[in-house]
Amino acid sequence: MPDRRRPLVAGNWKMNGLGASLAEIAAIRDGVAAGRAGSAEIVLCPPATLLMAAAELCEGGPIGFGGQDCGVEASGAHTGDISAEMLKDAGAAYVIVGHSERRADHGETDSLVRAKAAAGLRAGLSVILCVGETRAEREAGEAMSKVSGQLAQSLPADVPATRLVIAYEPVWAIGSGVTPTPQDVAAMHGFLRERLEHQLPGKAAIVRILYGGSVKPANAAELLGLPDVDGALVGGASLKATEFLQIAHVYQASEVTSSG
Ligand code: PGA
Repeated sequence: MPDRRRPLVAGNWKMNGLGASLAEIAAIRDGVAAGRAGSAEIVLCPPATLLMAAAELCEGGPIGFGGQDCGVEASGAHTGDISAEMLKDAGAAYVIVGHSERRADHGETDSLVRAKAAAGLRAGLSVILCVGETRAEREAGEAMSKVSGQLAQSLPADVPATRLVIAYEPVWAIGSGVTPTPQDVAAMHGFLRERLEHQLPGKAAIVRILYGGSVKPANAAELLGLPDVDGALVGGASLKATEFLQIAHVYQASEVTSSG
């Protein structure tokens, strides 16, 4: 069992990006290739419409790709859905499931998220499973019970730890410019590691736990240096190559990882 986890900095472009945005992806690729992103693994999750072109543009290069969601079935009569197999075929190695915007905008439940995670694994993808509490839940002291419930209900039982990434994203921190205190982030990540150990005995040290929600160049060093924080899921700041590279650059000098 490794006692060091390679940090992962993943960019979630959400519903942003047209063909012209491939230039920004090329700038990220070139920046990473030039060593400006340090030692972290770098993954971009562009909209599905750009995935194949982006993966081709970066083929053989230092960045990986992921989808932002997937359907449950491999193929079939599901208008508008994109399967995990299609993402893989388009060049993805990862898929995000359970993002709070999917849960809120599309009413995705933990059991649907679990089925989507299983679909991603079936297709050979690694899964970035998002969990996080709302502001009301945090204020009510329910943050930990909320995320442990999400973890328990949306993690497929037989998930291989090597292909699992957890993203802790407090809903109220996403796109708001507000982040939890470093103490709260560290406490939640430690708690998630403990819950993972319960669900995947002996394997929790392998699983990377990312923080997401208003990660910016100005707060990246503090947040990503915390114990049990193994990287970031970055929304808005991943749309600009310079900002995204600055965030990943936190891992430049020496890998910031917690001991396993
Ligand atoms: P943000 O989004 O960085 O824009 O807050 C993070 C996310 O939703 O993954």
